[in-house]
Amino acid sequence: MRKRFYIETVGCQMNELDSELVVAALQEAGYEQVFQRQQADIILFNTCSVRQHAEDKIYSALGRLKHLKEQKPGKVIGVLGCMAQKDQELILKRAPHVDLVVGPGQVARLPELLESLAQGKGPIMEVSLDRRGQPRQKVQASFLNPDRQNRPIVRPVKHQAFVRVMFGCDKFCTYCIVPKVRGPEQSRSPQEILEEVRQLADQGCVEITLLGQTVNSYRWQEPGRTIRLADLLQRVHEVPGIRRIRFVTNYPRDMSRELLQAVRDLPKVCPYLHVPAQSGSNAVLKRMKRGYTIEEYYEMLASIREIVPEAAITSDFIVGFCGETEEDFEQTVRLVEAARFKNSFIFKYSPRPGTKAYELFPDDVPDEVKRRRNNELLAIQNRISLEENQRFIGQTVEVLVEGPSKMAERQSEKNSSSIQLTGRTVCDRIVVFEGSADLAGQFVKVTIKEVSPVTLFGELSLARLDTHADRLGAPVSA
Ligand code: 5AD
Ligand code: SF4
Repeated sequence: MRKRFYIETVGCQMNELDSELVVAALQEAGYEQVFQRQQADIILFNTCSVRQHAEDKIYSALGRLKHLKEQKPGKVIGVLGCMAQKDQELILKRAPHVDLVVGPGQVARLPELLESLAQGKGPIMEVSLDRRGQPRQKVQASFLNPDRQNRPIVRPVKHQAFVRVMFGCDKFCTYCIVPKVRGPEQSRSPQEILEEVRQLADQGCVEITLLGQTVNSYRWQEPGRTIRLADLLQRVHEVPGIRRIRFVTNYPRDMSRELLQAVRDLPKVCPYLHVPAQSGSNAVLKRMKRGYTIEEYYEMLASIREIVPEAAITSDFIVGFCGETEEDFEQTVRLVEAARFKNSFIFKYSPRPGTKAYELFPDDVPDEVKRRRNNELLAIQNRISLEENQRFIGQTVEVLVEGPSKMAERQSEKNSSSIQLTGRTVCDRIVVFEGSADLAGQFVKVTIKEVSPVTLFGELSLARLDTHADRLGAPVSA
């Protein structure tokens, strides 16, 4: 009988992509995916280390599996991804029933590692080299590329795909564990990226999201010229069948005018820009080692508004970073008020062992202050998001249908003729409406009736699709 595996994924889109590739590789090697832990012979967690909370949840999930492992020692329990790279043997110490610890730079080897385990060679730990005290080339080589490499793979969602354009990060913001666990910044070649995009388009994919921790730092040397993200967008834009191109996450300093002009000039590139600010205070930005001042961030916002006026801009913020005063926080509030982001992801600072901030600065903002600042900033952002969304009431927007909404999934009404569907506008606004389940993967028009800070609610419109008019993401009709 084929061995069955179950995989649970937490964290960012990079992790989602890695899990998708792991699923494909395991299926290719003859394993069967199941969606309930109890049915699995192999239980995998693809983990995140960005905040303590994400790790705590994994450790308690592992704790709960101890009993199962005692009863059924043949079951395989594996920890993949960022926490595996960060904690390494600590995982085996805290959870000795774990069989596999595999860093994000080693997940490509999973089928081979499971084979070794089956031969009784466990427990196995495979991680990439630590960045400190090693030659860069050697460290880079220890982060293996798990991408599709020209292999057609079975994908759960046909019409949308993530395509990695670069690995790792060299920015070393003082709070962030990513450069340590995902390794040095390495761009993939344009050829490799384009082959993958073409292949996805042949399989019916219409929306591509280019992924990189700092995607706009993309850089590839060709004879006589450097290929940057703007050039890459131009090449991806030429691939027939692709209708929407997004890219995340942007680093403010690398938001060049050329890139913004490419967003303006290439109709398939969505005017959606995720450019995390993290803080509105220069003192905090400096301690975070973000590499820009708040004045420079405001200038960057002004360039976006000048070149791509209709762009939806989104941001990330950390509140309660070491030494953050009320005045620092007020400056963040001022930035959120002034920028009118479409939405912001707001996080309480979580000290991460292995980062510079952990070594250098005390975590001196009490948790209740972090919580209060988090709630306050979120309330302000929600008010702005709601006001921005209200502009859409009565408008008709183009939506790429993703599938049944969470509510429809819960009510398992998938078989009725009309169910609640969800999709996104070109500027990444979530739209919920009633329609037939077979619209998944198609572009439809929806007339917006009601809004909340995060969702537009509407009705399917029978209006003819005019993709040219829809391109700007702004409302297409009044
Ligand atoms: N604590 C809290 N939030 C963090 N982020 C990164 N590191 C930390 C940390 N130590 C946030 C940043 C980043 C997002 C992905 O996670 O805002 O942009
Ligand atoms: Fe982390 Fe900064 Fe790199 Fe983003 S740019 S992944 S926050 S180190």
